[in-house]
Amino acid sequence: MRTTVSVIKADIGSLAGHVTVPKEVIEYAEARLREAVETGLINSFYVTHAGDDLELIMSHFKGVDSEEIHGLAWRVFKGATEEVSKRLKLYGAGQDLLKDAFSGNVRGMGPGVAELEFEERKSDPIAVFMADKTEPGAWNIYLYKIFADPFNTAGLVIDPRLHKGFIFRVLDVKSGEEFNFNTPEDTYDLLALIGTPSRYVIKNVYRRLDGEVAAAASTTRLSLIAGKYVGKDDPVMIVRAQSGFPAMGEILEAFTTPYLVAGWMRGSHVGPLMPVSLKYSKVARFDGPPRVVGLGFQVSEGKLIGPVDLFDDPSFDHVRRVASEMADYIRRHGPFMPHRLGPEEMEYTTLPQVMEKLKRKVEE
Ligand code: F6R
Ligand code: MG
Ligand code: MG
Repeated sequence: MRTTVSVIKADIGSLAGHVTVPKEVIEYAEARLREAVETGLINSFYVTHAGDDLELIMSHFKGVDSEEIHGLAWRVFKGATEEVSKRLKLYGAGQDLLKDAFSGNVRGMGPGVAELEFEERKSDPIAVFMADKTEPGAWNIYLYKIFADPFNTAGLVIDPRLHKGFIFRVLDVKSGEEFNFNTPEDTYDLLALIGTPSRYVIKNVYRRLDGEVAAAASTTRLSLIAGKYVGKDDPVMIVRAQSGFPAMGEILEAFTTPYLVAGWMRGSHVGPLMPVSLKYSKVARFDGPPRVVGLGFQVSEGKLIGPVDLFDDPSFDHVRRVASEMADYIRRHGPFMPHRLGPEEMEYTTLPQVMEKLKRKVEE
Protein backbone atom coordinates (compact mmCIF):
# COMPACT_ATOMS: atom_id res chain seq x y z
CA MET A 1 0.00 0.00 0.00
CA ARG A 2 1.37 3.41 -0.98
CA THR A 3 1.06 6.14 1.63
CA THR A 4 0.56 9.80 0.76
CA VAL A 5 1.42 12.76 2.96
CA SER A 6 -0.39 15.96 1.99
CA VAL A 7 0.36 19.38 3.42
CA ILE A 8 -2.30 21.87 2.36
CA LYS A 9 -2.30 25.41 3.74
CA ALA A 10 -4.08 28.72 3.47
CA ASP A 11 -4.31 32.04 5.26
CA ILE A 12 -8.00 32.19 6.06
CA GLY A 13 -7.90 34.74 8.87
CA SER A 14 -5.51 35.69 11.59
CA LEU A 15 -5.22 37.26 15.01
CA ALA A 16 -4.11 40.82 15.67
CA GLY A 17 -3.38 41.54 12.02
CA HIS A 18 -1.28 39.06 10.06
CA VAL A 19 0.46 37.68 13.18
CA THR A 20 -0.85 34.22 14.07
CA VAL A 21 -3.72 31.74 13.78
CA PRO A 22 -5.94 31.67 16.89
CA LYS A 23 -6.73 28.42 18.66
CA GLU A 24 -10.42 28.63 17.64
CA VAL A 25 -9.42 28.13 13.99
CA ILE A 26 -7.02 25.29 14.83
CA GLU A 27 -9.69 23.55 16.90
CA TYR A 28 -12.26 23.88 14.13
CA ALA A 29 -9.84 22.29 11.62
CA GLU A 30 -8.94 19.51 14.07
CA ALA A 31 -12.61 18.67 14.61
CA ARG A 32 -13.26 18.44 10.87
CA LEU A 33 -10.17 16.31 10.23
CA ARG A 34 -11.08 14.04 13.16
CA GLU A 35 -14.39 13.37 11.36
CA ALA A 36 -12.41 12.58 8.18
CA VAL A 37 -10.38 9.98 10.14
CA GLU A 38 -13.61 8.47 11.47
CA THR A 39 -15.05 8.09 7.95
CA GLY A 40 -11.74 6.55 6.78
CA LEU A 41 -10.93 9.28 4.25
CA ILE A 42 -7.62 10.08 5.94
CA ASN A 43 -5.53 7.96 8.31
CA SER A 44 -4.09 10.67 10.55
CA PHE A 45 -3.48 14.40 10.71
CA TYR A 46 -1.72 17.22 12.49
CA VAL A 47 -3.06 20.77 12.41
CA THR A 48 -0.72 23.66 13.07
CA HIS A 49 0.15 27.11 11.80
CA ALA A 50 3.08 29.01 10.37
CA GLY A 51 2.48 32.61 11.37
CA ASP A 52 -0.94 33.51 9.95
CA ASP A 53 -1.24 30.37 7.79
CA LEU A 54 -3.37 27.39 8.77
CA GLU A 55 -1.51 24.15 7.97
CA LEU A 56 -3.25 20.80 7.46
CA ILE A 57 -0.80 17.90 7.52
CA MET A 58 -2.59 14.67 6.55
CA SER A 59 -1.69 11.07 5.72
CA HIS A 60 -3.93 8.86 3.57
CA PHE A 61 -4.04 6.22 0.81
CA LYS A 62 -5.65 8.38 -1.90
CA GLY A 63 -2.50 9.49 -3.78
CA VAL A 64 -1.38 12.99 -4.77
CA ASP A 65 -3.88 15.43 -6.31
CA SER A 66 -6.79 13.42 -4.93
CA GLU A 67 -10.10 15.21 -5.44
CA GLU A 68 -11.39 13.79 -2.15
CA ILE A 69 -8.40 15.05 -0.13
CA HIS A 70 -8.28 18.45 -1.82
CA GLY A 71 -12.04 18.72 -1.40
CA LEU A 72 -11.69 17.98 2.30
CA ALA A 73 -9.04 20.70 2.72
CA TRP A 74 -11.16 23.17 0.76
CA ARG A 75 -14.20 22.43 2.96
CA VAL A 76 -12.09 22.90 6.12
CA PHE A 77 -10.79 26.26 4.86
CA LYS A 78 -14.25 27.41 3.71
CA GLY A 79 -15.92 26.20 6.91
CA ALA A 80 -13.29 27.79 9.16
CA THR A 81 -13.69 31.05 7.25
CA GLU A 82 -17.48 31.09 7.51
CA GLU A 83 -17.92 29.61 10.97
CA VAL A 84 -14.89 30.99 12.82
CA SER A 85 -12.91 33.71 11.01
CA LYS A 86 -15.91 35.79 9.97
CA ARG A 87 -17.70 35.32 13.29
CA LEU A 88 -14.64 36.50 15.24
CA LYS A 89 -13.88 39.17 12.62
CA LEU A 90 -10.38 37.77 12.27
CA TYR A 91 -8.05 39.72 10.05
CA GLY A 92 -8.19 38.81 6.35
CA ALA A 93 -10.95 36.20 6.79
CA GLY A 94 -10.89 33.86 3.77
CA GLN A 95 -7.97 35.81 2.26
CA ASP A 96 -6.35 32.96 0.30
CA LEU A 97 -9.57 31.38 -1.01
CA LEU A 98 -9.45 33.08 -4.38
CA LYS A 99 -12.16 31.08 -6.16
CA ASP A 100 -15.75 30.39 -5.11
CA ALA A 101 -16.47 26.89 -6.33
CA PHE A 102 -14.19 23.87 -5.79
CA SER A 103 -13.41 22.12 -9.06
CA GLY A 104 -11.46 19.00 -8.13
CA ASN A 105 -8.10 20.37 -6.99
CA VAL A 106 -7.04 23.26 -4.74
CA ARG A 107 -4.05 24.06 -6.98
CA GLY A 108 -4.69 27.38 -8.69
CA MET A 109 -7.40 28.32 -6.19
CA GLY A 110 -5.20 29.98 -3.56
CA PRO A 111 -4.13 27.33 -1.01
CA GLY A 112 -0.56 25.96 -1.15
CA VAL A 113 0.03 22.21 -1.57
CA ALA A 114 2.98 19.85 -1.12
CA GLU A 115 2.34 16.11 -1.43
CA LEU A 116 4.50 12.99 -1.42
CA GLU A 117 3.35 9.48 -2.27
CA PHE A 118 5.64 6.53 -1.53
CA GLU A 119 5.89 2.88 -0.62
CA GLU A 120 6.78 2.90 3.08
CA ARG A 121 10.29 1.72 3.89
CA LYS A 122 11.14 -0.25 6.99
CA SER A 123 11.15 3.11 8.75
CA ASP A 124 10.23 6.42 7.09
CA PRO A 125 11.18 9.73 8.70
CA ILE A 126 10.02 12.97 7.04
CA ALA A 127 10.40 16.67 7.75
CA VAL A 128 7.65 19.18 7.00
CA PHE A 129 8.77 22.80 6.63
CA MET A 130 6.28 25.67 6.69
CA ALA A 131 7.23 29.31 6.17
CA ASP A 132 5.42 32.60 6.64
CA LYS A 133 6.02 35.96 4.92
CA THR A 134 7.93 34.58 1.97
CA GLU A 135 7.42 32.86 -1.41
CA PRO A 136 7.84 29.28 -2.79
CA GLY A 137 11.19 30.08 -4.45
CA ALA A 138 12.58 30.69 -0.96
CA TRP A 139 13.09 26.90 -0.68
CA ASN A 140 15.36 26.83 -3.78
CA ILE A 141 18.58 27.55 -1.94
CA TYR A 142 17.69 25.18 0.93
CA LEU A 143 16.80 22.29 -1.40
CA TYR A 144 19.99 22.89 -3.33
CA LYS A 145 22.05 22.76 -0.12
CA ILE A 146 20.27 19.61 1.10
CA PHE A 147 20.38 17.59 -2.14
CA ALA A 148 23.32 18.98 -4.13
CA ASP A 149 25.89 20.61 -1.85
CA PRO A 150 28.44 18.18 -0.37
CA PHE A 151 29.61 20.91 2.03
CA ASN A 152 26.14 20.68 3.59
CA THR A 153 25.25 17.03 3.04
CA ALA A 154 28.12 14.67 3.77
CA GLY A 155 26.07 11.73 2.45
CA LEU A 156 26.48 12.99 -1.13
CA VAL A 157 30.14 12.02 -0.82
CA ILE A 158 29.95 9.16 1.67
CA ASP A 159 26.71 7.21 1.06
CA PRO A 160 26.60 5.32 -2.28
CA ARG A 161 22.81 5.72 -2.43
CA LEU A 162 23.12 9.52 -2.43
CA HIS A 163 26.37 9.55 -4.40
CA LYS A 164 24.59 9.11 -7.77
CA GLY A 165 22.92 12.49 -7.20
CA PHE A 166 19.39 13.81 -7.51
CA ILE A 167 16.97 15.06 -10.15
CA PHE A 168 15.56 18.55 -9.57
CA ARG A 169 12.24 19.37 -11.26
CA VAL A 170 11.92 23.12 -11.69
CA LEU A 171 8.75 25.01 -12.59
CA ASP A 172 8.71 28.33 -14.43
CA VAL A 173 5.80 29.94 -12.56
CA LYS A 174 5.24 32.45 -15.38
CA SER A 175 5.06 30.09 -18.39
CA GLY A 176 4.08 26.87 -16.59
CA GLU A 177 7.00 25.01 -18.27
CA GLU A 178 8.92 22.39 -16.25
CA PHE A 179 12.58 21.38 -16.52
CA ASN A 180 14.58 18.46 -15.10
CA PHE A 181 18.19 18.80 -13.97
CA ASN A 182 20.49 15.94 -12.98
CA THR A 183 22.99 16.84 -10.29
CA PRO A 184 25.94 16.91 -10.04
CA GLU A 185 26.52 17.31 -13.81
CA ASP A 186 23.74 19.87 -14.49
CA THR A 187 24.57 21.93 -11.39
CA TYR A 188 25.51 25.13 -13.23
CA ASP A 189 22.38 25.03 -15.43
CA LEU A 190 20.23 24.34 -12.38
CA LEU A 191 21.75 27.26 -10.50
CA ALA A 192 21.29 29.54 -13.52
CA LEU A 193 17.52 29.08 -13.13
CA ILE A 194 16.89 28.66 -9.42
CA GLY A 195 18.99 31.73 -8.60
CA THR A 196 15.85 33.61 -9.78
CA PRO A 197 13.52 32.29 -7.09
CA SER A 198 10.65 34.63 -7.98
CA ARG A 199 10.29 32.85 -11.32
CA TYR A 200 11.91 29.39 -11.16
CA VAL A 201 10.75 27.21 -8.31
CA ILE A 202 11.91 23.69 -7.38
CA LYS A 203 8.78 21.56 -7.30
CA ASN A 204 10.18 18.07 -6.66
CA VAL A 205 13.44 16.30 -6.04
CA TYR A 206 13.97 12.62 -7.01
CA ARG A 207 16.78 10.22 -6.16
CA ARG A 208 18.68 9.19 -9.29
CA LEU A 209 19.50 5.75 -7.96
CA ASP A 210 15.91 4.55 -8.39
CA GLY A 211 13.76 7.58 -9.27
CA GLU A 212 12.26 7.58 -5.76
CA VAL A 213 10.69 10.92 -4.77
CA ALA A 214 12.71 12.73 -2.10
CA ALA A 215 10.99 16.11 -1.68
CA ALA A 216 7.93 18.09 -2.73
CA ALA A 217 7.36 21.83 -2.41
CA SER A 218 4.39 24.12 -2.96
CA THR A 219 4.54 26.42 -5.98
CA THR A 220 1.47 28.67 -5.68
CA ARG A 221 1.98 32.31 -6.67
CA LEU A 222 -1.18 34.04 -5.44
CA SER A 223 -0.51 37.26 -7.33
CA LEU A 224 -0.27 35.35 -10.62
CA ILE A 225 -3.69 33.80 -9.92
CA ALA A 226 -5.37 36.96 -8.66
CA GLY A 227 -3.52 39.52 -10.83
CA LYS A 228 -2.97 41.68 -7.79
CA TYR A 229 -1.22 41.53 -4.43
CA VAL A 230 -3.14 39.27 -2.06
CA GLY A 231 -0.47 38.37 0.47
CA LYS A 232 2.64 36.28 -0.04
CA ASP A 233 2.40 32.60 -0.83
CA ASP A 234 4.01 31.35 2.35
CA PRO A 235 5.31 28.01 1.10
CA VAL A 236 5.46 24.48 2.52
CA MET A 237 7.65 21.50 1.67
CA ILE A 238 8.09 17.86 2.67
CA VAL A 239 11.52 16.22 2.67
CA ARG A 240 12.23 12.51 3.21
CA ALA A 241 15.13 11.65 5.50
CA GLN A 242 17.63 8.87 6.29
CA SER A 243 18.58 5.48 4.74
CA GLY A 244 19.50 6.72 1.27
CA PHE A 245 18.08 10.21 1.68
CA PRO A 246 19.88 13.04 3.49
CA ALA A 247 20.01 12.49 7.26
CA MET A 248 17.63 14.62 9.33
CA GLY A 249 20.67 16.52 10.62
CA GLU A 250 21.87 17.19 7.05
CA ILE A 251 18.43 18.54 6.16
CA LEU A 252 18.46 20.84 9.21
CA GLU A 253 22.05 21.91 8.55
CA ALA A 254 20.83 23.85 5.49
CA PHE A 255 18.88 26.16 7.82
CA THR A 256 21.95 27.30 9.76
CA THR A 257 22.33 30.26 7.39
CA PRO A 258 19.38 32.67 7.46
CA TYR A 259 19.30 33.26 3.69
CA LEU A 260 17.70 36.42 2.37
CA VAL A 261 14.26 35.75 0.90
CA ALA A 262 11.51 37.87 -0.66
CA GLY A 263 8.40 38.65 1.35
CA TRP A 264 8.29 40.22 4.83
CA MET A 265 6.33 43.47 5.20
CA ARG A 266 3.63 43.80 2.52
CA GLY A 267 5.29 40.99 0.58
CA SER A 268 7.59 43.66 -0.81
CA HIS A 269 10.85 43.30 1.07
CA VAL A 270 13.91 41.13 1.32
CA GLY A 271 14.73 39.71 4.74
CA PRO A 272 16.44 36.80 6.50
CA LEU A 273 14.50 33.53 6.90
CA MET A 274 14.57 32.75 10.61
CA PRO A 275 14.12 29.12 11.76
CA VAL A 276 11.88 29.06 14.86
CA SER A 277 10.08 26.62 17.12
CA LEU A 278 6.28 26.40 17.04
CA LYS A 279 6.23 28.66 20.09
CA TYR A 280 7.62 31.49 17.96
CA SER A 281 5.60 30.67 14.87
CA LYS A 282 4.18 34.18 14.72
CA VAL A 283 5.50 37.33 13.15
CA ALA A 284 6.40 40.49 14.99
CA ARG A 285 9.00 42.94 13.80
CA PHE A 286 7.99 44.63 10.52
CA ASP A 287 5.56 41.69 10.09
CA GLY A 288 8.47 39.30 10.32
CA PRO A 289 11.23 38.58 9.91
CA PRO A 290 10.14 35.78 7.54
CA ARG A 291 10.00 32.54 9.55
CA VAL A 292 10.17 28.82 9.03
CA VAL A 293 9.01 26.07 11.36
CA GLY A 294 10.03 22.44 10.89
CA LEU A 295 8.24 19.35 12.18
CA GLY A 296 9.61 15.81 12.05
CA PHE A 297 7.34 12.74 11.75
CA GLN A 298 7.69 9.01 11.29
CA VAL A 299 5.29 7.59 8.72
CA SER A 300 4.06 4.26 9.99
CA GLU A 301 1.39 2.02 8.37
CA GLY A 302 -0.14 5.06 6.70
CA LYS A 303 -0.11 7.17 9.86
CA LEU A 304 1.91 10.16 11.03
CA ILE A 305 3.73 9.56 14.30
CA GLY A 306 4.94 12.70 16.09
CA PRO A 307 5.74 15.51 15.60
CA VAL A 308 9.03 16.70 16.96
CA ASP A 309 9.58 20.46 16.81
CA LEU A 310 12.88 20.49 14.89
CA PHE A 311 14.05 24.07 15.45
CA ASP A 312 13.25 23.99 19.17
CA ASP A 313 16.93 23.59 19.96
CA PRO A 314 19.73 25.78 21.34
CA SER A 315 21.90 24.90 18.34
CA PHE A 316 19.66 27.27 16.37
CA ASP A 317 19.85 30.16 18.87
CA HIS A 318 22.84 31.70 17.13
CA VAL A 319 21.11 31.38 13.73
CA ARG A 320 18.22 33.40 15.14
CA ARG A 321 20.67 35.94 16.53
CA VAL A 322 22.38 36.29 13.13
CA ALA A 323 18.96 36.65 11.49
CA SER A 324 18.07 39.45 13.93
CA GLU A 325 21.33 41.24 13.18
CA MET A 326 20.71 40.88 9.45
CA ALA A 327 17.19 42.24 9.98
CA ASP A 328 18.62 45.27 11.82
CA TYR A 329 21.05 45.96 9.05
CA ILE A 330 18.75 45.56 6.08
CA ARG A 331 15.88 47.46 7.78
CA ARG A 332 18.09 50.54 7.77
CA HIS A 333 17.63 50.73 3.99
CA GLY A 334 13.96 51.59 4.56
CA PRO A 335 12.20 51.95 1.19
CA PHE A 336 15.38 51.46 -0.84
CA MET A 337 16.38 48.44 -2.86
CA PRO A 338 17.73 45.86 -2.27
CA HIS A 339 15.62 45.83 0.94
CA ARG A 340 12.52 46.73 -1.04
CA LEU A 341 11.94 44.35 -3.94
CA GLY A 342 12.74 45.36 -7.52
CA PRO A 343 10.12 46.92 -9.82
CA GLU A 344 9.16 43.67 -11.59
CA GLU A 345 8.20 42.14 -8.22
CA MET A 346 6.18 45.25 -7.29
CA GLU A 347 3.91 45.02 -10.31
CA TYR A 348 1.08 43.42 -8.33
CA THR A 349 1.17 45.99 -5.53
CA THR A 350 -0.09 49.57 -5.52
CA LEU A 351 3.13 50.81 -7.14
CA PRO A 352 1.62 50.73 -10.67
CA GLN A 353 -1.21 52.96 -9.34
CA VAL A 354 1.37 55.45 -8.02
CA MET A 355 3.03 55.46 -11.47
CA GLU A 356 -0.35 55.98 -13.16
CA LYS A 357 -1.10 58.93 -10.88
CA LEU A 358 2.27 60.51 -11.67
CA LYS A 359 1.69 60.03 -15.40
CA ARG A 360 -1.67 61.81 -15.16
CA LYS A 361 0.00 64.67 -13.28
CA VAL A 362 2.54 65.14 -16.07
CA GLU A 363 -0.22 65.10 -18.70
CA GLU A 364 -2.36 67.73 -16.89
C1 F6R B 1 2.72 40.11 4.15
C2 F6R B 1 1.56 40.46 4.94
C3 F6R B 1 1.58 41.71 5.74
C4 F6R B 1 0.64 42.75 5.17
C5 F6R B 1 0.69 44.08 5.96
C6 F6R B 1 -0.35 45.08 5.47
O1 F6R B 1 2.52 38.91 3.48
O2 F6R B 1 0.58 39.77 4.94
O3 F6R B 1 2.89 42.22 5.86
O4 F6R B 1 0.93 43.00 3.82
O5 F6R B 1 0.46 43.84 7.32
O6 F6R B 1 -1.58 44.47 5.52
P1 F6R B 1 -2.95 45.22 5.24
O7 F6R B 1 -2.81 45.88 3.89
O8 F6R B 1 -3.95 44.13 5.27
O9 F6R B 1 -3.13 46.24 6.34
MG1 MG C 1 -2.51 37.21 6.57
MG1 MG D 1 1.08 34.16 5.86
